Amino acid sequence: MRLRRSLKAIPLLAILFSALLPLPAQTADQAWLNYQKMNGWTLFPRNIRTLGSGAIEQSAMRELNRGLGNLAGESAAGLSARALESVSGETILGTAEEFRKLRPDVRIPSDLAPGAFWFSRKDSNGKHRLLIVGGDERGVLYGTFNLLRPRDDKGFPLEVRESPAMPIRWVDEWDNIDGSIERGYAGRSIFFDAGHVRPDLTPATEYARLLASIGINGCNLNNVNNASAFFTPAMFKQVARIADAMRPYGVRVSLSADIASPQKIGGLSTFDPLDPTVQKWWSDKVSEIYRLIPDFGGFTVKADSEGQPGPASYGRSPADAANVLAALLAPHNGVVLYRAFVYNHHLDWNDPKADRARAAYDIFHPLDGKFAPNVIIQTKEGPIDFQVREPVSPLFGGIPHTNQAMELQITQEYLGQQRHLVYIAPMWKEVLDFDMRVNGASTPVKQIISGQSFHRPLGGIVGVACVGQNNWLGSPLALANLYAFGRLAWNPDLNPEDIAAEWTRQTISSDAAVVHTVVNMLMKSWPAYENYTGPLGLQTLTDITGSHYGPNVEASERNGWGQWHKADHNGVGFDRTAATGTGFVGQYPPEVAKIYESEATTPDNLLLFFHHVPYTYKLDQPGFGGKTVIQYLYDSHNDGAAQAAQFVTDWQSIQSKLDPALFADVLPRLEYQAGHAIVWRDAVTQYFLKLSGIPDAQGRAGRYPNRLEAEDASLTGYTVIDVNPWEDASHGKAVSCGESARKPAPGGDPAPNSALKGHDLSRAGTAPKESGASAPAATHCSATFTYTGQPGAFNLAVQYFDLPGGSAQFTLSINDRQTDTWSASDHLPSQRPNGDNSTRRIVRNLTLKPGDTIRVNATPDNSDPAALDYIELLPQPAN
Ligand code: GCU
Repeated sequence: MRLRRSLKAIPLLAILFSALLPLPAQTADQAWLNYQKMNGWTLFPRNIRTLGSGAIEQSAMRELNRGLGNLAGESAAGLSARALESVSGETILGTAEEFRKLRPDVRIPSDLAPGAFWFSRKDSNGKHRLLIVGGDERGVLYGTFNLLRPRDDKGFPLEVRESPAMPIRWVDEWDNIDGSIERGYAGRSIFFDAGHVRPDLTPATEYARLLASIGINGCNLNNVNNASAFFTPAMFKQVARIADAMRPYGVRVSLSADIASPQKIGGLSTFDPLDPTVQKWWSDKVSEIYRLIPDFGGFTVKADSEGQPGPASYGRSPADAANVLAALLAPHNGVVLYRAFVYNHHLDWNDPKADRARAAYDIFHPLDGKFAPNVIIQTKEGPIDFQVREPVSPLFGGIPHTNQAMELQITQEYLGQQRHLVYIAPMWKEVLDFDMRVNGASTPVKQIISGQSFHRPLGGIVGVACVGQNNWLGSPLALANLYAFGRLAWNPDLNPEDIAAEWTRQTISSDAAVVHTVVNMLMKSWPAYENYTGPLGLQTLTDITGSHYGPNVEASERNGWGQWHKADHNGVGFDRTAATGTGFVGQYPPEVAKIYESEATTPDNLLLFFHHVPYTYKLDQPGFGGKTVIQYLYDSHNDGAAQAAQFVTDWQSIQSKLDPALFADVLPRLEYQAGHAIVWRDAVTQYFLKLSGIPDAQGRAGRYPNRLEAEDASLTGYTVIDVNPWEDASHGKAVSCGESARKPAPGGDPAPNSALKGHDLSRAGTAPKESGASAPAATHCSATFTYTGQPGAFNLAVQYFDLPGGSAQFTLSINDRQTDTWSASDHLPSQRPNGDNSTRRIVRNLTLKPGDTIRVNATPDNSDPAALDYIELLPQPAN
């Protein structure tokens, strides 16, 4: 639908013509490496040479030429061609070692570490000399990208020296061998297709270029689930092609390894990591890999988690398994990233002491000091699973004798799946800056993972990116997250707002109003999303057993997955205190535990993660307005939805300064988000209104005076249905057109990739309750409403359910005159009408008088029953 709307304005001929052209190649320029967007440059000598001949150094030279070449075009407006030509002098690129050998006359810093760089620019007598020196070849490349980065107004520095904060700066891709991507929202894999590596790996090289530009040095290629299919000789050969494609940009590839592979694909009767035959099997695999990929990075391991097998099957520990692999990788300089995401997903909901948040610490803390020197424990930033807000995992403070990496998620699994604007860097920054107070001393998490706090040789940060063929992350503004991830991995002291400005200048425009507006939108986006999904530490109140996308407040309760918020009639929140709760709080070092143990000192934005409180509990901390918990829930959801609507206006305010294609691409996404934020707002506020019985002091929750409910309309063909969960529809009901409403598409309604994850979809209460089961199938339906209000001009919202199984058609008519028509052809999750696919169409500038009829006509398509929730007259101004 989005695409259809944005195309509407383009003349038919242009569409026909463009359909004949091949699709543009996927390049890094489509992200932020578009040098044409920059200005304000100082000139550099164009006589560029490298001291070495290595591939990475050559990439650096190519990039510099590319950047400066494009800049020449860009600056033509401000500088005459003569001025450009007059820049004489030289630009020299090389490693420190090369400089020492070949240019001993040049003074350079003597102590550049691997990855570090120094560049300096000297001008004398009209001659310019620019030196880019790296601690190694990667450093040369990183220095080059740094130099090409647009600066703020302060002008270009004469000298810059930087080094990466931590050695491991990787992205993880969750690609499957068939080309699908677990939790990927940008189309299919750039690496794999139908069981093979794709023949054309240009996108892999372009991705490596993008990654190198922000200092990323590793890429784990495949899904952490079901990885064994990748461990065949034929596949290793193909993966070697990917390594070749990414190597020129200093990105080492690695693979997820399935601990059960020796049995699953090796034909052994066991996968016990301590069994000699199993060790031999792994040893052969490692030798084979390094024969083909000498700089292979290592293995990422998900074991004993969410249905993935692991050493626990044989009574072995994660250290046993990790160390076996590590010993084989060590001679090749490879590492094992063993994930701490290990938990029992069959927890007993009735056990007040059961707590998934405890799992990582309970399992890994006792193993501290037992891991080999090239094992790194990779821990998600929070103890649950990439929720909209969680406390920092206590494990970071609990294994001081172990190398650690933090796992963040760039792909927006629980954060709106790239359909919602959510700039995550401010959240990451809070986590990185969090002071764990280990042994009563300052120990910010960023220093723990960099190895600094506990003098560990290895450490780092890993971002689950899940890029695909559709513009890397699928949505233009989502790319700010990939960019910010790399920048924070390089230097966690950077400020997310500065990073956002840097990204905007490179990607969109350096016009001051654009930078101001886009940065403002980005910075407000995570708080807005938190407000309309799960504030106060409730976590994202989404469908945790399915799509992880739309609202489903109870989905996390009464099942074994342990993402519980424990809302009941009297109160909400999970008591995790040491005194009366699960004891999770006690896993933090004493100073931090003391803060979380008490309701009064726990930050209000995490209150419900740690405490169960009555709905009338008062939030006294600054920014929470002395409100009760229940009133805060009502207000924050309304504020969040209002902010989402504001993003549309913000974007429109800079339209004249934006590339028209970008403007047209982003606008419908923001409009969609504004509509979906209303779905979220209404679902969560209706839910808590019913559960608590306490009304919204402002009378908004559950009351929609400008709405006309579809179930109250005069219906032809349509049948009234109960929507499940009830809170996802206005007053719990909708209308559905015909038999298809009761027949989900083949395969039912699985969670994306649920086969891999093993999510239990049979949880009691998830089956749809639909009435009218014996009604005959309808091919056309209509809902007719009669307008009874004052005469006036309005915008009208039509809230319908856009199911993925077909493209239902809708038309809106006023007094039998058609005013709008659209098809519900988006690809939203879930095969049943619910908050995953509830969608808002806005029809603008309608004039209505009492007695007018408003009719929605609908034609279902396949398993999309053209379900309709309500229509709503929107308050003016009509814009
Ligand atoms: C989340 C996600 C899964 C993924 C898992 C992991 O739970 O939903 O798809 O496999 O994290 O990190 O292993």
